[in-house]
Amino acid sequence: MMDRNAPIGVFDSGVGGLTVAREIMRQMPEERIIYFGDTARLPYGSKSQDTVLRYSRQIIRFLVTKEVKAIVIACNTASAYALETVEKELDIPIIGVIRAGARTAVCSTRNGKIGVIGTEGTISSGIYADVMKQMRSDIEVSVKACPLFVPLVEEGLLHDTVTDEIASRYLSVLKGRFIDTLVLGCTHYPLIRSTLGRIMGGEVTLVNPAYETAIELKELLKEKNLTCEKEADCREEKYQFYVSDLAEKFTAFATSILPNEVRETKKIHVEEY
Ligand code: DGL
Repeated sequence: MMDRNAPIGVFDSGVGGLTVAREIMRQMPEERIIYFGDTARLPYGSKSQDTVLRYSRQIIRFLVTKEVKAIVIACNTASAYALETVEKELDIPIIGVIRAGARTAVCSTRNGKIGVIGTEGTISSGIYADVMKQMRSDIEVSVKACPLFVPLVEEGLLHDTVTDEIASRYLSVLKGRFIDTLVLGCTHYPLIRSTLGRIMGGEVTLVNPAYETAIELKELLKEKNLTCEKEADCREEKYQFYVSDLAEKFTAFATSILPNEVRETKKIHVEEY
């Protein structure tokens, strides 16, 4: 029987999945988290499906050694390329970020026109449109890959004229399609939400899959009787962070976006798993 007080494994190609971890911390403060960021091998957004699947399997094997009770693929690209395969290989629950975001967008659109922005991998996989059309066949989906947003966020240019200019260019095509809902289909985009919202205008609803994924996770843990029922053992850090490279840089970024200071990040050789 799975231990309901075991931690939840969360992984991403790097720091972006911390937006998902942050939502889990806010919505389920009693849960423990083991976070892995594949900082040596990012970005995933410009890699092939085979490569992202191989990386995801290695990370999952590492998280399983930590005896996690469930796994969240907090990366849109890895969710698009790997979830369908790895969920068949695992005997613990695993979710990605795409289904929850797609469902919320379908529920919130009034005119049936939804925009999706993401990495080249997520957009070329066509997964958001596929999932949304399965939910409602008459939905019109317009997509746009925005590869420059990830480095801009990682450079800390969250409120900067350079980001404004690039966002205006990327989003102009979606503005011309009269969408009323925009899915932020990449982990980094919630961090420039105010810029994206200003450019799209107040009548366009922005959907943050990180937020919706935390809600889906909460429901899933409840359904499987896996909700944590006791405070974390104080001898162990409640939130543990692992990366494949540049642990200090990760610690600084994580501290800047998480509610509590991150004291330590451990570097591991994930390719050995
Ligand atoms: N985490 C990735 C995603 O959500 C963005 C960064 C990357 O390309 O690795 O798709």
